[in-house]
Amino acid sequence: MHYARPCFLNSPRPITLCHGVTLHAPLVQADLGPCDGPGLAAEVSRAGALGSLTVHALDCGTLRRRLARIRKRTSRPVLAAFTAPYESDGILETAFEGGIRHIQVFWWNGPRLAPRIEALGGTVFWQVGTGDQIREALDTGAKVLVAPGRAAGGQVRTSLSLQEMIAMVREMAEPGVSLVAGGGLATRDDVAQVLEWGADAALLGTRFLLSHESLCPAQYKARLLRASERELVLDTRVIGDWPCAPRRRIMTASGEDVPYLYAGRGIGKIRTLRAAAEIVRAMTPGTRR
Ligand SMILES: Cc1cc2nc3c(=O)[nH]c(=O)nc-3n(C[C@H](O)[C@H](O)[C@H](O)COP(=O)(O)O)c2cc1C
Repeated sequence: MHYARPCFLNSPRPITLCHGVTLHAPLVQADLGPCDGPGLAAEVSRAGALGSLTVHALDCGTLRRRLARIRKRTSRPVLAAFTAPYESDGILETAFEGGIRHIQVFWWNGPRLAPRIEALGGTVFWQVGTGDQIREALDTGAKVLVAPGRAAGGQVRTSLSLQEMIAMVREMAEPGVSLVAGGGLATRDDVAQVLEWGADAALLGTRFLLSHESLCPAQYKARLLRASERELVLDTRVIGDWPCAPRRRIMTASGEDVPYLYAGRGIGKIRTLRAAAEIVRAMTPGTRR
C-alpha cells in the first residue's frame, strides 16, 4: 500500500502518549460530531499530532470507507471517538480491521466497550468530567484520560476549570496514565499553559473546526470567524443530540440545535481559517510558526 509522505514537525520533544501513539506535536484534535471526518483526522495525524474521527450510529460499510480514506493519507494512528450510546459489535471489529487501535469512550458506553477494546489489543481513551468518571475510567483500564474543562465548545461535561480538572486527574491517576486536556484553547501560549499545568497533550476542538478540512459548512465557518466570546451561550435546553449535557454555542435567531455553531471560549481569538497541518505547526510550542 502506498502512503502519502508524512510531514512531521521537528518537534523539540516527541511524546509517547500511550502504546502506539508518539506525538511530534503535543496536540489531540477533539471529536467534532458532524464536523470532523477522514480528511481532518488524517491531516492532523499526518502533521504529527493525533487526529480524531467521530463514530456515531454509522453502518459498517460507511465506517470502512472513511477509514480507507484515512489510510490513503497516513499510516499514523487516528483516534476513533465512539460517541453514540450503543454501537453494534460489528462496528468495533470494522474499526480494528480498518487499522484503528485507539478508541475514545465515555461514561455511558465505556463500561461495555473498554473490556472489548482491550481484548482486541486496543487502547482505551476515556473522556471524563467528574471525579466519579475519573475513578470509573481508571478502574476499567483506561490508559489515556481526555478532560475538557468548563470553557469547552459543544458538550460541557464539568463545572471545573481546566486547571482544576488537570489537578484532579493528576491526583487520582497513576503516573503511567496520560492526560489530554483542553477546552477554550486558541493560541500556542494556551497550549503551553496546559502542558505546564500537567497535561501530556492539549485538546483542540474549535481551533480545528476552523480548518479547511473540517466538514463544517462554509457559511457557519464564516459566522464563527467573526464571533466573539460574548456571543456564546451555554445552552441547557433538552433538545438535539446529548441533551444531558449543556452545549456551548452561538445561538441562531430561531434557536434550533445547530452543532456546526458549537464553539469554545477561545473563539474570539480565532480569526483565520487554516489548513490543519498549519494549525498543528502554529499551535505547537517551540516550533517555527
Ligand atoms: C463543532 C463541535 C462539535 C462537537 N461535537 C461533539 C460531539 O458530537 N460529541 C462530543 O462528545 N463532544 C463534541 N464536541 C466537544 C469536543 O469534543 C471538545 O470537548 C471541545 O471542542 C473542546 O473545547 P474547544 O472547542 O474549546 O477546543 C464538539 C465541539 C465542537 C466545537
